[in-house]
Amino acid sequence: DGHASIDFSTLTRQTGHTGLDYGFVNTASTKSEITFIDGDKGILRYRGYPIEQIANSCSYLEVAWLLIYGELPSATELAEFDEKIRRHTLLHEDLKHFFSALPHTAHPMSVLSSAVAALSTYYEGETDVNNPEHVELNMVRMLAKLPVIAAYAHKKSVGQAFLYPDNSLSFVDNFLKLNFGVHSEPYEINPVMSRALELLLILHEDHEQNASTSTVRLVGSTGANQFASISAGIQALSGPLHGGANEAVLTMLGQIRDSGQSVQRFVERVKNKEDGVKLMGFGHRVYKNYDPRAKLVKAAADEVLTELGVTDPLLDLAKELEEIALADDYFQERRLYPNVDFYTGVIYKAMGFPTRMFTVLFAIGRLPGWLAQWRELNLDPQTKIGRPQQLYTGSREREFRRN
Ligand code: ACO
Repeated sequence: DGHASIDFSTLTRQTGHTGLDYGFVNTASTKSEITFIDGDKGILRYRGYPIEQIANSCSYLEVAWLLIYGELPSATELAEFDEKIRRHTLLHEDLKHFFSALPHTAHPMSVLSSAVAALSTYYEGETDVNNPEHVELNMVRMLAKLPVIAAYAHKKSVGQAFLYPDNSLSFVDNFLKLNFGVHSEPYEINPVMSRALELLLILHEDHEQNASTSTVRLVGSTGANQFASISAGIQALSGPLHGGANEAVLTMLGQIRDSGQSVQRFVERVKNKEDGVKLMGFGHRVYKNYDPRAKLVKAAADEVLTELGVTDPLLDLAKELEEIALADDYFQERRLYPNVDFYTGVIYKAMGFPTRMFTVLFAIGRLPGWLAQWRELNLDPQTKIGRPQQLYTGSREREFRRN
């Protein structure tokens, strides 16, 4: 893809010159074989496979395997992987006390991140980053348990009892049941919901060196284990400029609706940067043409809402907002298009997830990418501790004297 002739080893040599690059707009922090993005052409490929081909023909776990190991799994490999993950879904019973110690108002992203950090305490002596068996086992543990933790964060926030995982179900169906099933009542899987959630999770699985993945890598570069690195990644994802945008989009749409203001007026406020208001779910550091994931999500939103028999005026509002923004010079000049977060919330809402769970769903989606990137870093002999330079702009040397 045009990079083949670059000698990456020269890029890591110290030159003695420090460049200032706010937000790392022009600085590569690593080389990677996992995900390719061409932001100008709107291309996203996992291990070389176009996202459009992957999205509708694979399962979440199949894509996870692809991202982690570099090839699509054989039927036997996938069945074994799936089975291993089903066997590791249970959380230690003591971890339930952890959830009960937190207020029911806790944001599920904080619960998720803290619980992942806490999870490592159950595996003392089994988190050696130089032991491949530990690394493999902890990937399986994390893939199996993160959905359970996420569902418990949800149940806690709505005051319902936790359910045990039902390992006769697929990864996605199990997750739906853990969230929406109620004790002692049968839970019927809705195949439309199941397939839609699988698609959304797949679309989020990896996105090269975004802020949360870079966080996972930075923490991992210190030799910290997968639990520590991914717990930090979840915190980075929670910000409204990153994964938290899916929650922020729904909040924004609700505010526009409740304000009684026209969409046009809201767009004017964004353009005038009134109170720093932004069009959430728009713009991307890398995509300057369109976000291929957003295209797939927009198509799915219509389909899923129709199939679920849900009509949501917020979807119409989102479409009107997109139409007005795309026709406007402000957005055209800055090459701002809907990103993956713009339409996902409407689908999650139709499924019955509360707004505060949206970024948690993103985290479950992104987990395979974080694990794959952590593993790539861990196996790369060129890995060094991440340690950016700074340009010091404070006082030179001063004589110590109190005022
Ligand atoms: N609404 C209004 N104006 C915007 C938006 C937006 N959503 N995004 C960028 N701009 C404007 C900026 O104000 C800036 O204008 P200026 O030149 O007049 O100052 C110009 O476009 C360039 O934007 P930057 O902030 O420099 O772009 P950057 O690459 O640093 O930021 C980001 C990218 C953070 C995604 C930004 O577009 C944004 O804040 N979007 C809204 C939040 C969002 O949806 N985040 C999710 C991103 S995707 C993901 O993480 C999964």
